[in-house]
Amino acid sequence: PQSPTNQLIKLHQDATKLYSHILMNTEMGQPALDYLHQRGLTDQTISDYGLGYAPSKQLLKPFFETRKIDYQTLRHSGLFIENQDGELRDRFVDRIMYPIRNQSGQEIAFSGRMLKQMPDQPKYLNSPETELFNKRKVLFNFDLARGAVRKQGNLILFEGFMDVMSAHQSGVDNGVASMGTSLTEEQIYAIQRITKQVYVCYDGDTPGQKATQRALSILRDNSSLTLGVIQMPEGMDPDEYRQKYGEAKLASALESARETPVAFEMRYLKTQYDVDTDTGRLQYLNDILAILATVKSPVEQDVYLTQLADSFQLDKSSLRQQLAMVKPAKQ
Ligand code: GTP
Ligand code: MN
Ligand code: MN
Ligand code: MN
Ligand code: MN
Repeated sequence: PQSPTNQLIKLHQDATKLYSHILMNTEMGQPALDYLHQRGLTDQTISDYGLGYAPSKQLLKPFFETRKIDYQTLRHSGLFIENQDGELRDRFVDRIMYPIRNQSGQEIAFSGRMLKQMPDQPKYLNSPETELFNKRKVLFNFDLARGAVRKQGNLILFEGFMDVMSAHQSGVDNGVASMGTSLTEEQIYAIQRITKQVYVCYDGDTPGQKATQRALSILRDNSSLTLGVIQMPEGMDPDEYRQKYGEAKLASALESARETPVAFEMRYLKTQYDVDTDTGRLQYLNDILAILATVKSPVEQDVYLTQLADSFQLDKSSLRQQLAMVKPAKQ
């Protein structure tokens, strides 16, 4: 007999197949398939990621019940909601289903995206924590990205599932996404086992920029990874960029729009302080110098000190003196 873990994995595999069948081959799935096509996803990408559709009526419950899967297995799968009487019903209803896989490529959870905007519903609904699924440990696409990351020597960290898939469809396979939360130590540990370099490519909107800063700081504090930022223009996310400009442009932007963390912080922090006032300017310089102090290369430090001196009409040697006094942002 199968172990409980294997039973749960089998359940997720069967659910993935069923959701995919509904999406690709049924009338019920047609609006969802049209939606994905409208967003420019190809059938190849849809199949590479095993995307599916959970229809607006109960699907998994009758399916697994006729297959005599036992109640406790169903209960622990996270695929159902239990009412007070212990009755189960499908958790995912009228959602596009993204299977979440573990590092061995086994499906262990789902994220479901709503098809239409609905006011009191989250855009994405994830499986709850289960015996299989610990969202602190999972990076979306890690299993597929691993080979490309090793080959290219770096990993790209995206905000969303769609961004990862858009990059993949554009021939960029070294992308992963965290599950919509801050990076965890477990995720950083997994990343450090396969590469020394990470590019943060979050959304170009304000929340994305703020999240970039937070990710850089978490990575700085918890790893020895070499960091970079990929900046999407016009407030877009990578998927929106592909929809607007196409796959080739996204692939080249992911190559060419790279900057150092310091360059990013210098640009971003300028929007956070009023640098036209003395106080604002001093706070800004203080923050930048704290980040500069973590930069090991004296030449790189010098490049930024020159920029700072120029843009604020300051004496470079006083900046350098100040830099020698500040505590690094790291440790
Ligand atoms: P699309 O609208 O499908 O392109 O999604 P997106 O990836 O652009 O979404 P967004 O930038 O708003 O959020 C980034 C990521 O945060 C998503 O991919 C999800 O992982 C996560 N996220 C967004 N909204 C929710 C939510 O309502 N609930 C949960 N749990 N996660 C969310
Ligand atoms: Mn279509
Ligand atoms: Mn976003
Ligand atoms: Mn986004
Ligand atoms: Mn998006």
